[in-house]
Amino acid sequence: MQIITDPAEMQATAEKMRLQHQFTGVVMTMGALHEGHLNLVRMAREKAGTVIMTIFVNPKQFGPNEDFHRYPRPFEQDAALARSAGIDYLFAPQAELVYPEACTTTIDPGPIATRFEGACRPGHFSGVATVVVKLLGITRPHFAVFGEKDAQQLAVIRRVVADLNIGVSILGAPITRERDGLATSSRNIYLSSDERQQASVLYRAILHAEEAVTSGRRDLETIAAETETLIRAEPDAVPDYLCFVNDSTFETSSLATPGNAYRLVMAVQIGTTRLIDNWRFECR
Ligand code: PAF
Repeated sequence: MQIITDPAEMQATAEKMRLQHQFTGVVMTMGALHEGHLNLVRMAREKAGTVIMTIFVNPKQFGPNEDFHRYPRPFEQDAALARSAGIDYLFAPQAELVYPEACTTTIDPGPIATRFEGACRPGHFSGVATVVVKLLGITRPHFAVFGEKDAQQLAVIRRVVADLNIGVSILGAPITRERDGLATSSRNIYLSSDERQQASVLYRAILHAEEAVTSGRRDLETIAAETETLIRAEPDAVPDYLCFVNDSTFETSSLATPGNAYRLVMAVQIGTTRLIDNWRFECR
């Protein structure tokens, strides 16, 4: 595995691979790698001859009161994991090289970026979209894999890549879960052991919604309300939002109609840690 820190060197390397007709995939991360990231790598490895991983804690997607400074950065451990997962190139630049002073362009993905995570974290998706487009330009892959756990991020990236005719396939990888169903996340380490136990309520809430929909119910608003009550029963769990949305626009849906895809999306504060999760289904 080759480690590259200079964007110009990464771009030149990627350009050379293109000229040699190497089929490449990229997995973008902010480091603190866990099983969820390794799943993305496995998916990329199955499809590509060359897999690039990026590790970059992107300052532009954190709000002023968010955890940018305390975000975990265990680089040596990440590099060892990336190497053993079969990554060919690890691109880990410094912020000054990604955003030199002269760089003033930002991307506004439009309405999809203003809802839910976008409403709770103003500017977040603009920061994500800007860095993703830059990293695609630097690494020049044929495809990029993103986790379904960040479902709205995935929808925003699909929107931006389609709208800007970027010509890269965007693949979604299924959510990986711990034994009790909690979605794997770099932020899970912030939970105390009591909070960690309570955090499994997000998955139990998903199971409740899944059972309701599988039993034939279509009243999404009522199912969401029941699900929220279940979450609020945990002493330290406070939902920021919880509702069903149209899977591609992220507009709120109160009733499921056949032929459409929906997603239950939720963000729940457990103590001082904010967790997100989601579940998608197609209404037949
Ligand atoms: O999902 C993440 O880790 C980040 O939002 C991403 C896509 C690497 C952009 O910084």
